[in-house]
Amino acid sequence: MLKDKNKQVRDYLASISFDQRLYKEDIEGSIAHVRMLSKQGIISKEESDKIVSGLNSVFEEIKQGIFPFSTEFEDIHMNIEARLFELIGSIAGKLHTARSRNDQIALDLRLFIRQRISDTINDLKDLQKSLVELAEENISIIIPGYTHLQRAQPILLSHHLLAYFEMFQRDKERFEDCLKRTNIMPLGSGAIAGVSYPIDRNYLAKSLDFNSISNNSLDAVSDRDFVIEYHAASAISIMHLSRIAEELILWSSAEFGFIQLNESFTSGSSIMPQKKNPDIAELTRSKTGRIFGNLVAILTSMKALPLAYNRDLQEDKEGIFDTIDTLHYSLNIFTAMLKTIHINETGINNALKQDYLLATDIADYLTKKGMPFREAHSVIYKLSNYAISQAKNFNELSLEEYNNYSALFDGDIYDISLKSSIAARNSTGGTSTKQVKAAINRCWIILKDEI
Ligand code: ARG
Repeated sequence: MLKDKNKQVRDYLASISFDQRLYKEDIEGSIAHVRMLSKQGIISKEESDKIVSGLNSVFEEIKQGIFPFSTEFEDIHMNIEARLFELIGSIAGKLHTARSRNDQIALDLRLFIRQRISDTINDLKDLQKSLVELAEENISIIIPGYTHLQRAQPILLSHHLLAYFEMFQRDKERFEDCLKRTNIMPLGSGAIAGVSYPIDRNYLAKSLDFNSISNNSLDAVSDRDFVIEYHAASAISIMHLSRIAEELILWSSAEFGFIQLNESFTSGSSIMPQKKNPDIAELTRSKTGRIFGNLVAILTSMKALPLAYNRDLQEDKEGIFDTIDTLHYSLNIFTAMLKTIHINETGINNALKQDYLLATDIADYLTKKGMPFREAHSVIYKLSNYAISQAKNFNELSLEEYNNYSALFDGDIYDISLKSSIAARNSTGGTSTKQVKAAINRCWIILKDEI
């Protein structure tokens, strides 16, 4: 207890301002612990019932916002215990039998992150759903595909959107994998060495719905890998979100003009009345830095930390809370924003007007007539330079002009179009309408199977 310490020290040590967020998990863990103690005959049934009912009252007080949190009691564990003493008297002191705050906080964090993992996976699913809906609605729209941010080949807009579906699918898998190592019950490790009472750890694991119990008490109280893994999975996920954010920013600029963001997701300028700034996407792009930062912060806290518990570990909380919230709000606002996006076909068609995007298709044309691809590439390189110098599109060149570069060109060269280019890319995972429709079906099946 920090009553006797001076205020400066007390404030520095206290974590109650932020770890009160763990109250539900702390009480849930304490109730399971106390029931286990009574089942094992370590405390009596009456004592356990009294403590449980006191803990339930504390829970209600916190929920209703009338709980007297105080830095005098340092953290959430001590605040709850102190209030329990006030409510039920000295019997409250039996709650902490066979337990330490070290295994208690490890438990609380695991319970908390376990729930957040499943929330995050749901947020990711909602975002994926928005992407597939958008892909389905706009299946006929062709856009320029880019490499090096230079127009490269025509692709379906839907194909582009579904690339993000894949990223978020991998993100979900990462969170699911992280869940495996989060869902392990540490209670019973005590401060460091285990406890000297006849506790039943498997009963605890079962009643708190954990898959298994931790194997080593030192590791259990000092392990924060599951926190780091949540951070790492979040960092990758927000990095993905920042890529789509960047594309929406570019696409909504006058230079691209591919989309319009709904006004409710843009901000005006205080001086330039015509502006609709993509602030939501910009903020998301920037919040990536916070999440990366939180990952580096926890890695740094853990680096070279000797076994077992050290107070450094208290620093794990603000970062993980921030990352959880930031990712949650960012994923949700993107889901909502995508639902209201307007696809600007005129703008897209302007970008498609110059048909140099078809250069690969024209090289493929020669290759299919027997010319080695490398040679065809060099012929079309020269042909493109010529077309550009004449300010002509490929379909505006005469057959004679084509034949100046290769005798293999024939009248069917004019069959090459954006549509034929799309249709031709029918390799599995390619951009043909057939492939993309199959991909959309596959995405829906994935989303349905997971629910
Ligand atoms: N507030 C502490 C934390 O978050 C709880 C564990 C305290 N343990 C200790 N030995 N001081 O890490």
